[in-house]
Amino acid sequence: MPRIRVADVSHSFGDGSARRPVLVDLDLTLAEPRIGVVGANGSGKSTFVRLLNGLVHPDAGTVTIDGRDTVRDGREVRRRVGFCFTDPDAQIVMPTVAEDIAFGLRRRGLSKDEMRARTQAALTAYGLDGHADHPAHLLSGGQKQLLALASVLVTEPDLLVLDEPTTLLDLRNAAMVRRVVDGLPQQVVLVTHHLDLLDGFDRVVVFDEGRIVHDGAPAEAVAAYRALATR
Ligand SMILES: Nc1ncnc2c1ncn2[C@@H]1O[C@H](COP(=O)(O)OP(=O)(O)OP(=O)(O)O)[C@@H](O)[C@H]1O
Ligand SMILES: [Mg+2]
Repeated sequence: MPRIRVADVSHSFGDGSARRPVLVDLDLTLAEPRIGVVGANGSGKSTFVRLLNGLVHPDAGTVTIDGRDTVRDGREVRRRVGFCFTDPDAQIVMPTVAEDIAFGLRRRGLSKDEMRARTQAALTAYGLDGHADHPAHLLSGGQKQLLALASVLVTEPDLLVLDEPTTLLDLRNAAMVRRVVDGLPQQVVLVTHHLDLLDGFDRVVVFDEGRIVHDGAPAEAVAAYRALATR
């Protein structure tokens, strides 16, 4: 598994008097296969996971993935860290399903045949076989989420970051995404408000106002989060 090191990280947004700390003095090492992130709206979860692939650069401190700095070695980090947004429309970039998957494989020096084979394998793996040439924007919400996942996973990242991948989905599609995620060999960092998704996870961190207030097994972390929410 990759080793995520977040060393003395703080981050603020805004300028001048509007400047507000969003992440405060985070220091942790994550090397478990399944890591959950929970906390209230605005507690800093998305900002935290965006640090992991260099989408956000920390104001203070460093973030490294297997020793690679997300700022200094940004390209290498983005190649190794796949990121899925809550809203799949934010990352589906090509007109058809197959083209969207193939897009992630460009500039990798693959032959046309290799591209086609890898795209086909991804379509099959994520239940999108019959949709290769369909307009991506006409897929259902769950299928879009699967396409977003497929387009990231086809690039074979070492670490997959998922920011609320089931928030927009019905129960059936959420279960489908869950099955796919459960079956992945990769390290996964998952932000979610669907607490049952975290059953079987190795470690769950709880954010509150930009700080980690609990870090441990899922049951205790979820209990700590519930206690915070009903405080
Ligand atoms: N690009 C930005 N510019 C200014 N403020 C931002 C930006 N991104 C996030 N924030 C602020 O940082 C705080 C934390 O936001 P973040 O998106 O990390 O929260 P979150 O825990 O993911 O919340 P949610 O559960 O609602 O997704 C919020 O107050 C938000 O308004
Ligand atoms: Mg968020």
